[in-house]
Amino acid sequence: MKTNTWIATTLLAAAPLALGHGFPDIKNERSGDLFRQLHWGQHWDVEDGVIHDGNSTGVTVQAEGETLYLAYPRGGSTENAIVYFTDIFGLQLVNNRLLADSLARAGYFVVLPDLFRADPVPADALSDPNSSFNMTEWRTRHPITQTEEIIDHAITAVRTGFNASHVAAVGYCFGGRFVARHLATGGGVDVGFAAHPSSTTADEWNAVVGPISLAFGELDGSNTPENRTNIEGIFSAGNKSFQTSLYAQAEHGFAVRTNLSVPLKAFAQESAYWQAVRWFDAWVKGEY
Ligand SMILES: *[C@@H]1O[C@H](CO)[C@@H](O)[C@H](O)[C@H]1NC(C)=O
Ligand SMILES: *[C@@H]1O[C@H](CO)[C@@H](O)[C@H](O)[C@H]1NC(C)=O
Ligand SMILES: *[C@@H]1O[C@H](CO)[C@@H](O)[C@H](O)[C@H]1NC(C)=O
Ligand SMILES: *[C@@H]1O[C@H](CO)[C@@H](O)[C@H](O)[C@H]1NC(C)=O
Ligand SMILES: *[C@@H]1O[C@H](CO)[C@@H](O)[C@H](O)[C@H]1NC(C)=O
Ligand SMILES: *[C@@H]1O[C@H](CO)[C@@H](O)[C@H](O)[C@H]1NC(C)=O
Ligand SMILES: *[C@@H]1O[C@H](CO)[C@@H](O)[C@H](O)[C@H]1NC(C)=O
Repeated sequence: MKTNTWIATTLLAAAPLALGHGFPDIKNERSGDLFRQLHWGQHWDVEDGVIHDGNSTGVTVQAEGETLYLAYPRGGSTENAIVYFTDIFGLQLVNNRLLADSLARAGYFVVLPDLFRADPVPADALSDPNSSFNMTEWRTRHPITQTEEIIDHAITAVRTGFNASHVAAVGYCFGGRFVARHLATGGGVDVGFAAHPSSTTADEWNAVVGPISLAFGELDGSNTPENRTNIEGIFSAGNKSFQTSLYAQAEHGFAVRTNLSVPLKAFAQESAYWQAVRWFDAWVKGEY
């Protein structure tokens, strides 16, 4: 009971701080089943098959002073890259690595930086009532300036170390905000996709210049109908190249982990994956 009270108090206390400070609105974070599988359709450079739960198949390297998880496409080309900005659970959450592997199987060289320098939020921190994890302290350890430094290093590695000529970005929850920030002029990213972004400000959406695709969940309290309408209004008024999708029964975090035994949640997760891939493929091929 003591720890339950602590969690509730912490979550309530944390929520007002979350907006405008670059941190996820954690009252909306939910745990779910692990991301388990992707069903493959017909697609260029995609091997048919299903990734079941198990370990990721990429490699972890050091570059530009950061730890990067790398997933290569078939053939090993690094020309078309995706930089992957994770949720607060980081590259240590197998779901994130499996999703990176999945994006690689669609033909992209995927680079997933360790956004928290080996200090992510533990996977069970929000769902385990006995967790002693202190979110306030964690936030203090990871200011936005640090996240930006890590992302800049990752983009430098992708462009000048791996010689990528097209650089896309995907971002989930916490990471979604950084897709918007890096699609601004000089941000180093050409085209982006974010699912259930957290804490992104109107100014950040407004500054986007690259093509952007967003996936929202109906049940995500971090992206209310009002928030979504505001974002779409900003995109329209700014004549931006954009696309948005809204998935029924999908909660905050659904594109990375959700309850796959609920058909519409599983559909939402897989569709968010294909949404990103199609958006990037079309851009790389010059279709828009
Ligand atoms: C998954 O891979 C990581 C990194 O190689 C390794 O540390 C870990 O032990 C593996 N886990 C399992 C269950 O094989
Ligand atoms: C939390 O701790 C209590 C007391 O040690 C224990 O009875 C309970 O099973 C624990 N709950 C979880 C989810 O681990
Ligand atoms: C979490 O850390 C903050 C800052 O150090 C501290 O004020 C707070 O008491 C801590 N909460 C718990 C439950 O330890
Ligand atoms: C990137 O280009 C440089 C200069 O041409 C070359 O030395 C390096 O091997 C290339 N790196 C990769 C990963 O292809
Ligand atoms: C989302 O909308 C709520 C009101 O519904 C507002 O308080 C909050 O600032 C908005 N969040 C973002 C990130 O725009
Ligand atoms: C909007 O942008 C497109 C190119 O993406 C351009 O052709 C069009 O003229 C722009 N419209 C306005 C009103 O600026
Ligand atoms: C996942 O959904 C199934 C079907 O509705 C339900 O039985 C199960 O309890 C859910 N699992 C979790 C962890 O919520």
